[in-house]
Amino acid sequence: MSHYLSLSRVARLVGVSRVALQRMIKDGQLATFDGDVELEELLRVFPDVRWQDDGEFRRVEEIKRKAFAKRVFERALPDKEVLADRLFDLTSEFAAAKSLLMHYDELFKWIGAKLDDVADSGGPATAQAVVTLKQWIRQQVEAAPKEAERGRALLAEESAMRIMSAQVTVQPSGHEFFVEGNDTILEAALRAGIPLNYGCSNGNCGDCRARLVSGEVKKVHPHDYLLKEADKGNGAFLMCSYTAVSDVVIEASVAGAMDIAFQTIPTKVKAVELINERVAALHLITPRSQRLRFLAGQQVNLSADGVTGDYYVASCPCEDRHIELHVRRDNRPFARKVFEDLRKEDAVTINGPSGNFVIKMDSRRPVIFVAWEDGFAPIKSLAQHAMSLEVAESMHLYWVAEDLGQYQDNLCRAWADALDNFTYTPLKVESGVRHVAETILARHPSLIRADIYAAGPADFLHHLRDGAMARGLSPLGWHAEIVV
Ligand code: FES
Repeated sequence: MSHYLSLSRVARLVGVSRVALQRMIKDGQLATFDGDVELEELLRVFPDVRWQDDGEFRRVEEIKRKAFAKRVFERALPDKEVLADRLFDLTSEFAAAKSLLMHYDELFKWIGAKLDDVADSGGPATAQAVVTLKQWIRQQVEAAPKEAERGRALLAEESAMRIMSAQVTVQPSGHEFFVEGNDTILEAALRAGIPLNYGCSNGNCGDCRARLVSGEVKKVHPHDYLLKEADKGNGAFLMCSYTAVSDVVIEASVAGAMDIAFQTIPTKVKAVELINERVAALHLITPRSQRLRFLAGQQVNLSADGVTGDYYVASCPCEDRHIELHVRRDNRPFARKVFEDLRKEDAVTINGPSGNFVIKMDSRRPVIFVAWEDGFAPIKSLAQHAMSLEVAESMHLYWVAEDLGQYQDNLCRAWADALDNFTYTPLKVESGVRHVAETILARHPSLIRADIYAAGPADFLHHLRDGAMARGLSPLGWHAEIVV
């Protein structure tokens, strides 16, 4: 009997990114059936993989843990009722498999008896033929297939994975993510960087309503919002109150920049980190009940003690309550406040978000990120978001800096070290905007299949855009933000 695994589970099991697997499918190296991979095919294509080694998946999670300062891949146990349900499902599968094996055992005994009857009723030649046939059957049953041990290890790993997490597939966007530990479906989606639509995040507004297409969900938080009985009968549920018991397919809408309401969020300073003489990273933490909804690449207005300033969010939306902003030392009042007297636990209000410089979530093309000085802030957020989503075939980051320096150079090098599909090139400003643009473009002779996200001064963006178009970049692949 064939056993099929989803591409997301295969990615976790063999420690290869989904993007890399999709490339293998496209190149004909890995066969799929309805988007799933058969166990035997998996063993054929990855003969040397050690199932306990999550490879790139672990490395990406480690990057997130270090870089995003957040809880990722904690082996937190699910809610105990969810755990019981998952164990029950798995036990039922094992019981069905065991009863099938017992049936086959009986069948073998019956075939043996029938063959004995045939041998008794026939001549010596028939008796000899039956003996030969029975010997052959015994040999076939006893000879363990070469792949059986590896297949068993893989199935054991997959079963453990199914107890700890459930896969969610979102229609119509096609996004996939895993629900781990006690997370609701909404929390798990946001951690994975998928901006599903929601409002209050605590069961009051109904904005996170989704429809269950297949699988089983369970309420883990009560909600005040009343769903109509007819809607419930049609599979409606609130993603902020429910978790996934089994692998599920849901219908839910993904938010674009225009869908996110302007918010006013009171936050506290978690740290003012002086990265160098010229730049500080301001780390803010939002209240548990009032997270900031934003998309990577957007900006916000900050205010503290009557002083305000506009800054790009440098953290990923998947970092939950943690918001990071990069503040350049200059004469702007908010910058002066950050460098002179903003302290841990001080109150800072965030107003926003605003802006359309956001990631194209359905693109599978190679992505080129270009940051100029502290234009790195939105680019960092976008790059982390792209890593979370695993959408890009490859990622190239260019960071042009001089006054401020590549102030998070180590982080960029860590990404490049850890990810097979990520390269990082620091560049100096000194040669002039045109020359820097040409240096970047010289590394990409054809840009027909590419997306460029660039944040920097207008004249630099102008040269970069013209050169990129000359190399075949589609106007739809150009995403730029003027940062002064
Ligand atoms: S987000 Fe408001 S009810 Fe779920």
